[in-house]
This record gives sequence, C-alpha cells and structure tokens, in this order.
Amino acid sequence: MARSKRILFLAELTKGYHTVLDIGTDHGLVLERAFELGYIKEGIASDLREKPLKSAENNLKNYPVTFVISDGFLAIRKPFDLAIIAGMGAHLICDIMDHAPKKDITYILQSNDKTDILREYLMNHGFMILDEYLVKDKFFYIVLKVKRGFSKLSHEDLILGPVLKTKPESRMFYDHKIEQIDKIYEKTDDFRKEELDKMRKIYKNI
Ligand SMILES: C[S@@+](CC[C@H](N)C(=O)[O-])C[C@H]1O[C@@H](n2cnc3c(N)ncnc32)[C@H](O)[C@@H]1O
Repeated sequence: MARSKRILFLAELTKGYHTVLDIGTDHGLVLERAFELGYIKEGIASDLREKPLKSAENNLKNYPVTFVISDGFLAIRKPFDLAIIAGMGAHLICDIMDHAPKKDITYILQSNDKTDILREYLMNHGFMILDEYLVKDKFFYIVLKVKRGFSKLSHEDLILGPVLKTKPESRMFYDHKIEQIDKIYEKTDDFRKEELDKMRKIYKNI
C-alpha cells in the first residue's frame, strides 16, 4: 500500500525508541516503515476494530508485533516507551489521552483538525509539548511530540503552536490559514467576521 509523506514522517519520529504502541494502527503502515528503517525493536499494533487490525497483521507478519483490539489504551497490558495516535479527530485523541499511563512515556499526536483544541487539552491535563512539526502532504498536518509535565500556553500559542511559531516553515501554513479565512470572510455574518478578523491578526502578526 502507498505510504503518504505523513506516514513516512511519523515513522521517522520512532527512531531510538524500543517498543512503539500505535493506537488506531489501521494498516500498520507507520510501524511497518519504522521496522524497515531498523528504528524500533518491538511494536504493539492496536485498533478499536477487527478489520483494520487484520490488515495490520497482514502487513506486519514478519516483525515482532503484538496485536491488540483496544479502545485507546484500555486493553494495552505490555509496556511501551512511545505511543502514536495519528490520523484522527482532535476530540477523539483527547478522549484517548484521558487514559494515557501516568509514566514517563513519549507521545506522538497528530490530529486531522483542531490542533488548538488538542494543545489546550494537553495544557489542562498535565502534558507539555516538546516539539511540533509541520508536514505538507495533500493537506497540512501538524504533529506534536508530547510528555507529561507542566505547560502554560497563551491563546496565540494554542492557535500558532508554541514551538511551531518559532520555525520558519510555519509561515506557509499560517499564510494558508489566512487564505482560508479570506475565502469564507465575505459569506459570513458580522459576529463571525469579528472572530475571523481576530484569527487573521494572530496568523499575520507572527
Ligand atoms: C483514519 S485511521 C488512521 C490510521 C493511522 N493511525 C494513520 O495515521 O493513518 C483511524 C483508525 O483509528 C481507529 N480508531 C478509532 N477510534 C479508536 C479508538 N478509540 N481506539 C483505537 N483505535 C481507534 C479506527 O478503527 C481506524 O482504524
């Protein structure tokens, strides 16, 4: 199966970890790439549903992987040092992170939308963002590297990303967001326009 730039990037982030848990693994493509690169020793491929997990089993049959049907972390018994939760909505990732182990584990999180909601959740639930990456594939994707810890983020940080805003490549993403705002601006009511003006200002003033 073809691997997107996003999948390849996620696999790059597994380098140096021993056992990687991929929640919502679907076809198991991230783990497959991580093994091909020789980056990890063991994998735990988990999914809520049987069909995607079967597909992961098929793709990962030559590697040391445990397959688990699980709602997020709930049925995971084996230890791991990195967990990946990617390609899902922000609210679902927040729900899954509610049951994250209280241990020294690194998390790679990539929501398909509303990264600001995810950042706010992390700040309010005792996580800190260690790094943020922008991946330009068919769409723009933001990938967060996270650990347990204290963080205090401003409203601007929640929208721009506390780390992403320091990276030069973020400019193209912020310009893209401004273009999106401009496209919908004329069609919206005055109340929403006020909100869009504020967002445009945040994306511009960086
Ligand atoms: C769109 S796919 C993303 C696959 C892959 N992680 C990626 O980044 O391309 C979402 C997968 O998450 C699984 N999923 C949804 N909710 C889940 C949950 N609560 N726990 C575990 N897996 C879940 C779905 O069954 C599906 O296979």
